Amino acid sequence: MSNTQARPVESERIALKARNVSFSWEDTPLHWVPGDPLTTHTINVLHLLLPAGERWFVHVYKQVLPLIRDDRLRADVVGFIGQEAMHSQAHDEVLPHLRELGLDPTPYTAQVDWFFEKLLGDRTLPPGRARRWWLLERVALIAAIEHYTAFLGDWVLNAAELDRRGADPTMLDLLRWHGAEEVEHRSVAFDLFMHVDGGYRRRVRTWAAAFSALVFLWQRGARFFMENDPTLVDGKASFRGFHQRGRQGTLPATGDMLRSIPRYLSRGYHPSHECSTAQAVAYLAASPAALAAEGPVA
Ligand SMILES: [Fe+2]
Ligand SMILES: [Fe+2]
Repeated sequence: MSNTQARPVESERIALKARNVSFSWEDTPLHWVPGDPLTTHTINVLHLLLPAGERWFVHVYKQVLPLIRDDRLRADVVGFIGQEAMHSQAHDEVLPHLRELGLDPTPYTAQVDWFFEKLLGDRTLPPGRARRWWLLERVALIAAIEHYTAFLGDWVLNAAELDRRGADPTMLDLLRWHGAEEVEHRSVAFDLFMHVDGGYRRRVRTWAAAFSALVFLWQRGARFFMENDPTLVDGKASFRGFHQRGRQGTLPATGDMLRSIPRYLSRGYHPSHECSTAQAVAYLAASPAALAAEGPVA
């Protein structure tokens, strides 16, 4: 059954472009949210998941391009691919800095690479129905994941508590530049899914798989960082600590995350009903990294 009720908000749609940003990490401390390793490392999990995850998005989308019968959507998908490739690279570049600070993420990133490249990879399927089924399944998975990247992008753009706590400005700019582009392109994955399939059962099934995988990988990544942080004795990540920080505003609130679930599963869902493109564009117009990527003004 397909859901045709999703009505996009046209004014939230914007032409997408990748920004060739770069960041210098030498002044960023290990605990870039001062005095709060749990917040720091919970957010640091992004640097572990996104390089492999966003490379995988790009890999899958390059395969789906020939199935797109709408020029505007194809342009959106090409813009999305450019932005995600840049995000993947920018987060990857944080990892050598973590290694220099004594926190080697290789044991965890090796597992994440296996997850995206092998478990969610192409598999040796014969051409035809099985191969198409697996491609559509992955397109739907990406749509579900993008519901959360937009949620997190919107959250970090509004996370004033991180500024109040004196969080490292370079890390905040990375997170907000990325978050703003996630908000900019938040409808692309869902529009693509609706274009090539749109089945409601597939949407629910892949949401459940994506949500479970994200929770599993995230808590595992946070535990990995806390346990291997060379400055912590007996570092631990707990749900209680995460929940507390959600209440304080340094991490997303548990209630907000739970409330986002029925929205995605609603038959009337469309990502353009969430977040604000104007806010994302305003951030990108002021982001030090995005401005530097534009080059000097003539
Ligand atoms: Fe991204
Ligand atoms: Fe994205």
